[in-house]
Amino acid sequence: MCQCANMPITMRHVCHSAANWHIGILAHWHIIHWHIIINYIILMIRLEGITKNFGSLQVLKGIDLEINKGEVVSIVGPSGAGKTTLLQIMGTLDEPDNGNVYIDGTKVSKMKEKELSAFRNKHVGFVFQFHQLLPEFTALENVMIPALIAGTSSKEATARALEILSFMGLAERASHKPNELSGGEKQRVAVSRALINNPAVILADEPSGSLDTHNKEELHQLFFKLRDQLGQTFVIVTHDESLARITDRTVHIIDGIINNC
Ligand SMILES: Nc1ncnc2c1ncn2[C@@H]1O[C@H](COP(=O)(O)OP(=O)(O)OP(=O)(O)O)[C@@H](O)[C@H]1O
Ligand SMILES: [Mg+2]
Repeated sequence: MCQCANMPITMRHVCHSAANWHIGILAHWHIIHWHIIINYIILMIRLEGITKNFGSLQVLKGIDLEINKGEVVSIVGPSGAGKTTLLQIMGTLDEPDNGNVYIDGTKVSKMKEKELSAFRNKHVGFVFQFHQLLPEFTALENVMIPALIAGTSSKEATARALEILSFMGLAERASHKPNELSGGEKQRVAVSRALINNPAVILADEPSGSLDTHNKEELHQLFFKLRDQLGQTFVIVTHDESLARITDRTVHIIDGIINNC
């Protein structure tokens, strides 16, 4: 029982207000500090002052962005706004003119090409609008390739690829080549390939752009299942409003800057 139980009503009110205030301050302190601590521990992507020009065309004019582990973030904006350019810079496929990119705490901006491609293979998964699977290889082999490049043994890569394909509901399709798979299945194989090395982040550029409504929704649900069950981080460029609406955060790129007003 509160120590003020025997006080007059007015005094009790003062006592409770003080206690609530105290609890409020503590709660506030708690939230602020957890926020800082969690951010510090699980920041997956940090972009600082990114600029990019193509000739006289200023595409990105100073982008600062932070993405935490387990976030599903969408990037939207008009055609030509620089969304793909930003995603490619974030994934180290392109270099900014100015600014820094940090992935999972590592500054990648000044890495040499060989070191960078090894880093990219291990830490970043890509999913594109068109699956970009290699036609002469089976679904299983396509998924295994990034693991083999990373030096994983064939036995281990096979086991992991089969595990992911089963998680995706594609175990029965493992030996099929891309032309023997539906559009939705091909994109799920592409997501499996992106996942194989446990990347810090999966970057997807209009991943459902070539799918019909049913397959599109299934793929979107898959992103959230992967986030909820594996803590996977996603950055997704999309023109699909229904997808942008359900992501944790939407970043609007307009005129080369982030405009979230
Ligand atoms: N390699 C390049 N050389 C010259 N200009 C380029 C290059 N890549 C992109 N651009 C230009 O930069 C601008 C931004 O292109 P980007 O592909 O990033 O746009 P986007 O927002 O992804 O558009 P969309 O929604 O149509 O895919 C466009 O005007 C494009 O023509
Ligand atoms: Mg684009």
